Amino acid sequence: MVIYRASDYASMSRKAANIISAQVIMKPDCVLGLATGSTPIGTYKQLIEWYNKGDLDFSRVTSVNLDEYKGLSGDNEQSYRYFMNHNFFDHININKSRTFVPDGTDPDSEHACARYNEIIREVGGIDLQLLGLGHNGHIGFNEPGSAFEKETHCVDLTERTIEANKRFFEKEEDVPRQAYTMGIKTIMQAKKILLVVSGEDKAEIVKTAFQGPVTPAVPASILQLHNDVTIVADEAALSKME
Ligand code: F6R
Repeated sequence: MVIYRASDYASMSRKAANIISAQVIMKPDCVLGLATGSTPIGTYKQLIEWYNKGDLDFSRVTSVNLDEYKGLSGDNEQSYRYFMNHNFFDHININKSRTFVPDGTDPDSEHACARYNEIIREVGGIDLQLLGLGHNGHIGFNEPGSAFEKETHCVDLTERTIEANKRFFEKEEDVPRQAYTMGIKTIMQAKKILLVVSGEDKAEIVKTAFQGPVTPAVPASILQLHNDVTIVADEAALSKME
């Protein structure tokens, strides 16, 4: 595990974008595993900037995202598909038909998840998986207690998440109760993993996940067992590491 210490969020974003750029340059038809959330937004912005300068070409890249809310279609502003289009795909020359996100509109969870596993296999697996880190150690929607051996599956959102999401929806019944997520097994099968983390509020979980025991109680701790993980973190997020 390589830990790269960045001074702040901007420098963390630049470093992460550098690593993704290197992947795209070295293998133009690579498969990028992508994440939503606030942490990677700066990374996407930096990649867009370099694309606009003519330094990057995404035309042969395929992407597979970590997760999606069950029940939301891509035009719903809360969907992860919408997030990806808005924050990244709409601004680069990636072929949209080669950008995959679990199909939130498929009500049949088993079918949706099996199909997503099939897509990941069909594209040849993930070359580089970008991850964020939840405050409780979650990666994707794999919350504490998730079995390490799962591929894409449907998860019930915690009451806390449902409660937090309420403000984004007009009606309470529109708030998603479930999500489709790549499992830990899927994530661990990626050839390379790049985790971005920023802020003092993540310092405790960074220490627990990467200096503590490997346990399903802290899903990200499994990354200690992957042979090619780079963590790009700012000083604040690393402030409790020994
Ligand atoms: C995003 C995802 C989540 C986030 C995590 C951290 O697709 O699966 O696991 O990476 O919740 O989110 P932020 O970056 O908003 O702190």
